[in-house]
Amino acid sequence: MSRLRLPLLSSASTTLRRRRSPRSSYSSGAVITSSSASHHTPPLKLQSPLFLRPLSHSASPSALLSFRRWAESLARSSAADLTFDGGPSSSELIREISWLLQDATSQDGDTFLLRTDLEDLYRLWRQRIEERRPFQYIVGCQHWRDLVLAVSEGVLIPRPETEEIVNLAARVEGLQDGMWADLGTGSGAIAIAIARMLGENGKVVATDLSEMAVEVAQFNVGRYKLENKVEIRQGSWFEPLQDLQGKLSGLVSNPPYIPSSHIHGLQAEVGRHEPSLALDGGENGTDHLLRLCEGSISSLKPGGFFAFETNGDKQSEQIVDFMTTQWSNSFHDIKIEADFAGIKRFVTGFRR
Ligand SMILES: C[S@@+](CC[C@H](N)C(=O)[O-])C[C@H]1O[C@@H](n2cnc3c(N)ncnc32)[C@H](O)[C@@H]1O
Repeated sequence: MSRLRLPLLSSASTTLRRRRSPRSSYSSGAVITSSSASHHTPPLKLQSPLFLRPLSHSASPSALLSFRRWAESLARSSAADLTFDGGPSSSELIREISWLLQDATSQDGDTFLLRTDLEDLYRLWRQRIEERRPFQYIVGCQHWRDLVLAVSEGVLIPRPETEEIVNLAARVEGLQDGMWADLGTGSGAIAIAIARMLGENGKVVATDLSEMAVEVAQFNVGRYKLENKVEIRQGSWFEPLQDLQGKLSGLVSNPPYIPSSHIHGLQAEVGRHEPSLALDGGENGTDHLLRLCEGSISSLKPGGFFAFETNGDKQSEQIVDFMTTQWSNSFHDIKIEADFAGIKRFVTGFRR
């Protein structure tokens, strides 16, 4: 991925930290690190991420500078309208302009080569401000752990707090060569990260109900050359895992967990653009979590590990209460684990 600095075009706030923009319960802060992904990517019916497109356009430095000045001015004049629901500040937007240019351009002497035409950059930035289209959908990727994942409308943008679920799985001993499942895989983020830390014989089955998620996850698995380690299956929760009953060593999921009545109050980037299939957890937000807890009984092998992400604090406590009162015969060491912000975000445990 091109990380070329644009000396003529960089603003002082250009940074190598690249963060997501939607906030609310789904919040901030992924770090860029180098990616070992292949640039020879499998075909995607969706538009491929901007940074992977060919450099088939060009622009003069002055034309790009004009774009940058226009985009910054739009960001400054609109920021007050965006922050009322937790949207990005003007300095966050100005950082995004740098990232957009980094993904879209490469310098060749006095000319800049572009992966899309200048007109499209204007169009994309208008969408960012006027439609509140998430930055990750504009550039078609999200930086998450040490991965750069393709994302697209119809697929949840993976959140920084979810990175911790991979660390929780990594801490489990003795299950690294077994079969794992990531249910509701979305972009494939968790499945890919776990597959990379499993042993030689370890594998992940990643499932999703959404056709778009399945397609994007397959693309990301291919880009990281993990086809032999991650199998993508389409279907609802445990339905595609019939052949793995009682065989799973690990089961992880970040299911939809936002109470239905809270969806309309989400930051515009989230509520208007991210798929409700990925967000809506039913009346209390726990519909899918409870289904996952129940299904873990028949899917995990004895000693198998589970980790589920929740909406935090009270919801984690509800799930633990439920599991310890209803299913204490089936699970042990049921615990709550915090995310990097100290929120009680995950429920973990083991099958008896
Ligand atoms: C909160 S998103 C998580 C996506 C991804 N794991 C991540 O952390 O970025 C929840 C995912 O569950 C999927 N999903 C919703 N209902 C489902 C169902 N009944 N069966 C399987 N997946 C489902 C959604 O399509 C979405 O991709």
